[in-house]
Amino acid sequence: MNNVSNGCHVAIVGATGMVGQEFIKILLQRQFPLASLQLYASDRSAGKKVFVGHQEIVVKETANDSFDSVDIALFSAGSETSKHFAPLAAKAGALVIDNSAAWRMDLRVPLVVPEVNAEDIKKHKGIIANPNCSTIQMVVALYPLHKVNPIKRITVATYQSVSGTGVAAVEELTKQAKTVLEGGNVVPHVYAHQIAFNLLPEIDVFLENGYTKEEWKLVEETRKIMHAEHIAISATCVRVPVFVSHSEAIQVEFTDYMPPDEARSILSKAPGVKVLDDPNVSLYPQPWLAVGTDEVYVGRIRSDASYVNGLVMWVVSDNIRKGAALNAVQIAEEAVKCGWVRQQGNNK
Ligand code: A2P
Repeated sequence: MNNVSNGCHVAIVGATGMVGQEFIKILLQRQFPLASLQLYASDRSAGKKVFVGHQEIVVKETANDSFDSVDIALFSAGSETSKHFAPLAAKAGALVIDNSAAWRMDLRVPLVVPEVNAEDIKKHKGIIANPNCSTIQMVVALYPLHKVNPIKRITVATYQSVSGTGVAAVEELTKQAKTVLEGGNVVPHVYAHQIAFNLLPEIDVFLENGYTKEEWKLVEETRKIMHAEHIAISATCVRVPVFVSHSEAIQVEFTDYMPPDEARSILSKAPGVKVLDDPNVSLYPQPWLAVGTDEVYVGRIRSDASYVNGLVMWVVSDNIRKGAALNAVQIAEEAVKCGWVRQQGNNK
């Protein structure tokens, strides 16, 4: 393990993907203290050159010994890749920050949104999980309210963009939109059905309880991050023909009455949140406007007409930035700042 105060040796696994590319952008934008950067992907990308600032870095195939001199490994190459390589990277001494679902509910692995539970980072044993994109933006918006007035119940409907599925889905929406507009027939590949000009209430696999795995992630991950096992949560996750940014219609029931103005006031001071809420001038968060930005936007805050201690709100964020790469880099920054990069024990 190197002394990270002189900069970190960072590896990105999944460097050619949507989130991998955003990792590179964000590390540079935030001037993350880099001693070196190594880029890994599958054998399909080995030898490919990627510009990092003015420097060209050759992508390598991820191998068991890729992490021998790495301080921080940012993973975004799917669950199977993480299950195999993350423990090896942790064993080699790297702090793994993993964007897949592989480790999120593992009791030994902290699941972190820095605005909510940064202190959990220090409990890591080599792997820290980055939550699901929909969970991240929801807890950033709800936790500041929960601290003031504990939440009892959440009902959420998500409107999730195709970039959450990866590069292939972005290409699929582009091609399908063109095909439909030209009067052609669409043959879906990435999703079960056509996504262009359509909505699909199916994200990840269906579970025996009738929910999808994506919906269940929102339930379990929210409780783990907020340390609030008692909150009742129900979610419906919908894939929408939007390229980037996820939106959420959230209904929250608090312990006591929460006036909308109080919620606006709390959220306007909350870290990572920007309130956009003025119906008089049609001001509210929109996926298009959130693209490439770091905030979680909250608007349409109003009392819930169906129960007394409830609020309804509309929450939007760039799923590739705060929903994935930015959150992971923020975890890395916090770990470096607090001297928590070195692992506390082994995951395996
Ligand atoms: P590759 O481009 O070589 O397939 P996205 O989710 O945007 O499609 O990106 C997925 C990322 O995960 C890509 O960088 C992809 O690399 C990488 N990846 C996929 N399978 C593996 C694997 N078995 N080992 C390492 N990286 C992988």
